[in-house]
Amino acid sequence: MTDRKLSSLVKEFPFSTIFFNEKHIDYCCGGEHMLYDSIAEAGYERGAFLSELETFLEDAQNKYKATVDPSLYDLSIDELVEHIEATHHLNERNLLQEVDTKLNTILRAHYKNHKEELLRVHSLFSDLRKELLQHFVEEEEEVFPLLRRKATNPTKKMIELLEDDHEAAGALIKGLQEVTRSFTPPEDGCPTYVATYAMMKTLVEDIFLHIFKENSILFPKYTEGAKL
Ligand SMILES: [Fe+2]
Ligand SMILES: [Fe+2]
Repeated sequence: MTDRKLSSLVKEFPFSTIFFNEKHIDYCCGGEHMLYDSIAEAGYERGAFLSELETFLEDAQNKYKATVDPSLYDLSIDELVEHIEATHHLNERNLLQEVDTKLNTILRAHYKNHKEELLRVHSLFSDLRKELLQHFVEEEEEVFPLLRRKATNPTKKMIELLEDDHEAAGALIKGLQEVTRSFTPPEDGCPTYVATYAMMKTLVEDIFLHIFKENSILFPKYTEGAKL
């Protein structure tokens, strides 16, 4: 990690914003500052700060890496449900919260110049957030426990409803992709704007993978196993 402007660091590593917030380092208004100066001004020891930052970014990278591990196909229904809850439900709840906070910040800061885009993004994202948070609870409290006990008829209808929810989330995401030009911030977007769109992109990739695992691995495994 070399010395560079905070704004360029945030652009390359959007998750560094979470770390900087925790350390009370201003990467937005102070985005033109050099990293080393900001570390010194905030009173941290440079070596320790940098190694902590690197570990944080590495963890974030691993946590939100969007790939399907082929071994998932061999898991039991119980193991799959546990995996989905412990990774996607947990990570997406965190990301929904983080993006929501950042989106409110840029809505206020850039309202004048990007009113139309930001109001639309805010509205679509709020719908997506509400729908997903309810959907996760429905799965965790209602449907997944039934899948694990291999209940039959009532669950088939419930699975179809969950698949409908996935489709509705996909439509909201499509709207977000259109209005944000596939999560490309405007030229005059501040570092928080850049980080918000980058995190939204990571969230969306995680959602797609999550939906794939449920629609294409978990639900078929249940349906075939239960011989419905
Ligand atoms: Fe889920
Ligand atoms: Fe789901």
